[in-house]
Amino acid sequence: MISIIGSGRVGADIAFLCAANALDDILLINRTKDKAIGESLDIANSIPSDSKFSIRGTDDFSKLSGSNIVIVSASVSIYQKYRTEHLFSQVNMIKNIAKKVKQYCPTAIVLIISNPLDVLTYFFQKESQLDRFKVIGIASSLDSSRFHYVLSEKFNVPLHSISNPTVIGEHGDSMVLLFSNIKVNNVPILSKINENEMESIVNNVKNYWKVLRMYNTRSRYGIAKRTFDVIDSFINSKDLEISASVVLDGEYGENDVSIGVPVKISKNGSIEIQKITLTPKESELLKKSSNQIRNFIKSVKS
Ligand code: LAC
Repeated sequence: MISIIGSGRVGADIAFLCAANALDDILLINRTKDKAIGESLDIANSIPSDSKFSIRGTDDFSKLSGSNIVIVSASVSIYQKYRTEHLFSQVNMIKNIAKKVKQYCPTAIVLIISNPLDVLTYFFQKESQLDRFKVIGIASSLDSSRFHYVLSEKFNVPLHSISNPTVIGEHGDSMVLLFSNIKVNNVPILSKINENEMESIVNNVKNYWKVLRMYNTRSRYGIAKRTFDVIDSFINSKDLEISASVVLDGEYGENDVSIGVPVKISKNGSIEIQKITLTPKESELLKKSSNQIRNFIKSVKS
C-alpha cells in the first residue's frame, strides 16, 4: 500500500498518478478527513477498470499499518517568500509524522516532499531512526528537471539533446547546478556559454518556483511526476538514477546532514549514493550548501 500523508494539490496529484497507473492500493491521510475522502472519491475514478487496487481517505494514522511506501507531502501552511518560512512548525509536524510511521509501518520506505525539504528529511530520519536509505527527500530531481528545461529553452533544442542536467545540494537558494558534465548535442556546454549566461541559468532554476507564484500558481505536476517515478521504480523493480536528499555519513565529505546527492535505486530496491567527480568550484558550492542546511538544523535544535 502507498500511503500519502497530506492530500493537498501535490499529495492528490501523486495519488492520481499512482491510481491511474494502477501501482498499488492507496491511502490518503489528511488532518481534514473530508478532504482526504473527497479527493480519494474523485481519484478512484481514474483507476483502470481491470485493476485490483483501490483508494481510501482518512484522518486516522493507525491505518498506515501495512504501508510499504509512505509519502509525506503535508504542510502546516503555504509559504510565500521562503521555503523555510514555517521552519519550526514544519519540523514539529514532521517529527509527529515520523513517530506515527515508526509506530505503524516501521519497514516502509518514506519519501519526503514537504519543505524545507532537506531539513525535514533530516529530522524525519533522526526522529524515526529508520535506516538512512529508507528516508529519501524528493526535490533535487525536480530542480534537475527545471535545469533541463531552462537549458532546452536557452539553446532552443529538445530535452533529449541535453545530457546530464544534474542539480545537487539544498532544495533552496544554495542548490548546486552541475554544468561540468553537460553536453548539448554532444558538445560540452562549457564551450558554448560564458559565466554571465551560467549565472542567469542558475538564477532561473533557483527562482523557478517563485515564477510559478507570480503566475498565481504553485508547483504540483513536476514534483508529482518525479515522486511517482521513484514509487514506480520501487514497486515495479526499475533502475532509477536521480538526485535526492539523503542523510550523509561521510559521502562527499559530509556527515549528519541531509542534502541532495546523486542516488541510484536498483531493481532490487537497494539504494546507494553515487560518487561523481565534482570540479573544485562545485565541491566548494556543495560545502556551502550543506553548511546552509546545517545552520537551519542548528537553529531548530538550539
Ligand atoms: C518547488 C517546491 C516544490 O520548488 O519546493 O516548487
